Amino acid sequence: MAHVTDFRYSIVAREDYSDVTFMLEVCHPLMARAARPGQFVIVMSHADGERIPLTIADFDAEAGTVTLVIQAVGKTTKEMQRTCRVGAELYGIAGPMGIPSPLGHAKKVVCVGGGLGVAPVFPQARGFKEAGAYVIGVLGFRNRDLIFWEDKFRAVCDELILCTDDGSAGMKGFVSQGVLRAISDHADIEEVVAIGPPLMMKACADATRPFGIKTMVSLNPIMVDGTGMCGGCRVKIGDKVKFACVDGPDFDGHQVDFDDLLVRLRRYKEEERVALERFNEDCRMRTVPEGAKVVSDLPRARG
Ligand SMILES: Cc1cc2nc3c(=O)[nH]c(=O)nc-3n(C[C@H](O)[C@H](O)[C@H](O)COP(=O)(O)OP(=O)(O)OC[C@H]3O[C@@H](n4cnc5c(N)ncnc54)[C@H](O)[C@@H]3O)c2cc1C
Ligand code: FES
Repeated sequence: MAHVTDFRYSIVAREDYSDVTFMLEVCHPLMARAARPGQFVIVMSHADGERIPLTIADFDAEAGTVTLVIQAVGKTTKEMQRTCRVGAELYGIAGPMGIPSPLGHAKKVVCVGGGLGVAPVFPQARGFKEAGAYVIGVLGFRNRDLIFWEDKFRAVCDELILCTDDGSAGMKGFVSQGVLRAISDHADIEEVVAIGPPLMMKACADATRPFGIKTMVSLNPIMVDGTGMCGGCRVKIGDKVKFACVDGPDFDGHQVDFDDLLVRLRRYKEEERVALERFNEDCRMRTVPEGAKVVSDLPRARG
């Protein structure tokens, strides 16, 4: 565990889980004390950077750190993958945002994480365990090389069902099949929490619906201000319109209109493509041959 010596948003630890997924442990004692499972932060990695929402994947009040697990999918996350090294600082972190996950009094729960969703479901699995529940973890990855945090989950789960798409570790299949296996082994499951890509959460909600098991999902619509003002993160829950940043991000999976969410997530594809292309081009231009004079550097986190 990293030890914190100052109060800036310095990156005190980094681990790369694959060529696209990396973990940052960031010094922020107040955030670490205030954070609750299910909440998120809005991060700016440098002064001219985009503000992006990221789930608080873990927090340690004693060490004064919060943990972020990031998938490099577009311009900002790829830039962070390049620049956010140990010792650098993030420019700003706002939060904790969102309503903490309602952990309730369920005696037996299934916590499901698909791919990157494995990280944000961890604080919930630990929270349920601390509240005395029997916790079954279901974790899904495309293949064994992408597995991370298995040990962390084994430490807080009574049972762990590992799934890989190609069968290279654990059971072959998707997490929704892992959920069905847990349901067939345990008739008394009271709640399922599923976090991951929208299609995965939809599949889990579809799997539990016939059994009438309460199923909570964490939605990731495009967010701008994170304060309920801009309307960017509008989601349809049953016959109601909600704003994920202030009303969520956790919602009843049986009520979520996933088709609407998927359409809204695709709205800025062209702009995102252009931004990434420009960033890649910029990186290519700044790749300096050995011995050449460095004129400028990539925009980087302060510090
Ligand atoms: C509550 C919440 C928690 C999240 N937690 C995590 C996390 O822990 N780790 C992680 O890697 N990602 C997380 N995301 C998604 C992350 O915010 C996006 O991947 C990131 O903003 C993409 O920015 P980009 O410039 O790299 O890519 P872009 O090319 O700009 O976008 C790639 C895709 O990311 C999504 N996206 C883009 N901008 C936003 C935005 N402002 N808000 C939300 N989604 C956006 C869209 O689906 C888009 O198609 C979370 C999103 C939300 C809403
Ligand atoms: S991000 Fe603007 S209303 Fe939620």
